[in-house]
Amino acid sequence: DRSGYECWLRYSYIDDDISRDAYLKRCSRIALIGESALIESARAELKLALTSMLGAKPLEIGISEDGPAIVAGTFDSLQGLGLGSFVEAADIAELGNEGYIVLASEDGRVYLLAETDKGVLYAVFHLIRMMQTGEDIETASVREFPRNSLRMINHWDNMDGSIERGYAGRSIFYRDSRFIEDLSRVRDYARLLASGGINAVSINNVNVHVQESKLITEEFLPDVAKVADIFRGYGIRLYLSVNFASPIEIGGLETADPLVPEVRRWWSGAAKEIYRHIPDFGGFVVKADSEFRPGPFTYGRNHADGANMLAEALEPYGGEVIWRCFVYNCLQDWRDRSTDRARAAYDHFMPLDGTFRDNVLLQIKNGPMDFQVREPVSPLLGGLTRTNQLLELQITQEYTGQQRHLCYLVPQWKEILEFDTYAQGEHSTVSEVASGRLFGRKRGGLAAVGNIGDDMNWTGHILAQANWYGYARLTWNPCLSSEQISREWIRMTFGQDMGTEGIILKMLSDSHRIYEAYTAPLGVGWMVNPGHHYGPNVDGYEYSKWGTYHYADRYGIGVDRTVRSGTGYAGQYHSPQSDLYESPERCPDELLLFFHHVSYTHVLKSGKTVIQHIYDSHFNGADQAVDLVAQWDSIKEKIDEGIYLQVRERLLHQAEHAGEWRDIVNTYFYRKSGIADDYDRLIY
Ligand code: GCU
Repeated sequence: DRSGYECWLRYSYIDDDISRDAYLKRCSRIALIGESALIESARAELKLALTSMLGAKPLEIGISEDGPAIVAGTFDSLQGLGLGSFVEAADIAELGNEGYIVLASEDGRVYLLAETDKGVLYAVFHLIRMMQTGEDIETASVREFPRNSLRMINHWDNMDGSIERGYAGRSIFYRDSRFIEDLSRVRDYARLLASGGINAVSINNVNVHVQESKLITEEFLPDVAKVADIFRGYGIRLYLSVNFASPIEIGGLETADPLVPEVRRWWSGAAKEIYRHIPDFGGFVVKADSEFRPGPFTYGRNHADGANMLAEALEPYGGEVIWRCFVYNCLQDWRDRSTDRARAAYDHFMPLDGTFRDNVLLQIKNGPMDFQVREPVSPLLGGLTRTNQLLELQITQEYTGQQRHLCYLVPQWKEILEFDTYAQGEHSTVSEVASGRLFGRKRGGLAAVGNIGDDMNWTGHILAQANWYGYARLTWNPCLSSEQISREWIRMTFGQDMGTEGIILKMLSDSHRIYEAYTAPLGVGWMVNPGHHYGPNVDGYEYSKWGTYHYADRYGIGVDRTVRSGTGYAGQYHSPQSDLYESPERCPDELLLFFHHVSYTHVLKSGKTVIQHIYDSHFNGADQAVDLVAQWDSIKEKIDEGIYLQVRERLLHQAEHAGEWRDIVNTYFYRKSGIADDYDRLIY
């Protein structure tokens, strides 16, 4: 059953005669100028899409032939072909080296123009998307350029084929500690990424084990180079996660101290080798001094020493270092109320602001903890002002249902991107911080942990493809609304039927709130089974060393992170956000337990007590999860049977599992607090 393999590049035949004829008028002939790998990708994609959507193979013509056609190329390559006025009129400079124009002209042509071949490829994908979503191309006049220069996906793939936090099968890159020979799946992956505008990918887990440490050596570089070639054809640069202790583990040195000349020479040598194989290699992703990974702390050095040493090695070749800020004490004593995992990234990295080299980016998780269904935005974003920043999101649904539950994350990501850090007064949104614009920095963007594997449908849950697509679209343009992204994705994936679109749109839009409702309440997070993180376990992490507490007792629940009486975390934000979080009255309900320890009878802004909120949200959330099945069933006839069945099976599981969450959470708090439900519902 290949259902779902094509994802949003399905290119279904347009059976509406009027629309098809309209497209055919301009699209039955094509002229693409250039021979680069990027132009070849553009040509292949355009032919595939047109043939499949319009039922006729387009004719390739020479650029000088007159008449209706799609004409694609760079401004340079098209110069002197009488395109004249409208090309000049366009503000080419603003487009940069990834932007493009899609323009219909009066003589029946559609021009796809850009500064670079990469821009031309993006323009081709744009035109295809217009046709997939039923837009008129007769009057097309589009100018697009990305708001973020780095638009990245991180793979947590290991060379044995497993994927850390992967919920959709095994790796598409590796099997049995080697690269998979047949890379056709990687090519399709690259197509999907490029169609959304992703331009960077790291292909191995941030936890770099023995075998993966060798990816930067002669043993594997020829294979890495083959993968890089494929990605290059789609405008995507390849990065590798590296082991900070490599000089010891694969270099035979006795130290990995970043200030020792021998170590620096070793990394320079390694960089030289890498670039010999991959001239446009992107750089290193590094998880250091975090969760038992080696790092500069061993030698009494700091993160800047470590990152700058690697950056210096890559600098001559134009590479960069992406240094992760997920650093905290994972051996915490719960009685020590002054240590707070939420504070850690800020405490570690703020003192180093301004000391990182220009080709270093700090990659910061969206929240201070770890991709929970609800967390505040990390105060490090907008805390740092003199350092390149990269916002890290998680597409793979580690804590949000592991692709067995429907949880569409675009609404959450939009909230994060729109969060006002007040770093430079009002309108200092995370989106402006991450892009680098707020502080006038050239480097910046978004990275996210991918959610795909070798499952035939890539993501396990077919509706989880929307998270992947949505992430890519947001990296290109964070201003797109969640609704617009959803509608695009639905049309491209399921075709254009208003009824179907309405139902799936509603399912997607509600799903994050639903998931939040039946899992951990009011921003407190966790409450999952330790290790694999799936399924309810209120005390799963309460009596462990990871620093992820809820402190529920018979009187109340929540973590006091105020400056006045708690860990002081709330003070890491700029005002007025810090004031808002500091106050139990003003703190948004959804984050109350993240910032405050309150009694079960504390009255929320919603007018409910905390305990009644827990009961109500869990009963409602679980009911809504059941209703998702009914909504999906209502469009059964409109959907490809394979896809219908696959999704249905997941929704049924979710409905049942949401009931388990409801019961376990409700009974825990009933028995802890001794306070009955106002409505006397059955609590096991
Ligand atoms: C989470 C996740 C780990 C991962 C880590 C990270 O804690 O559970 O699997 O290694 O994040 O982001 O480094």
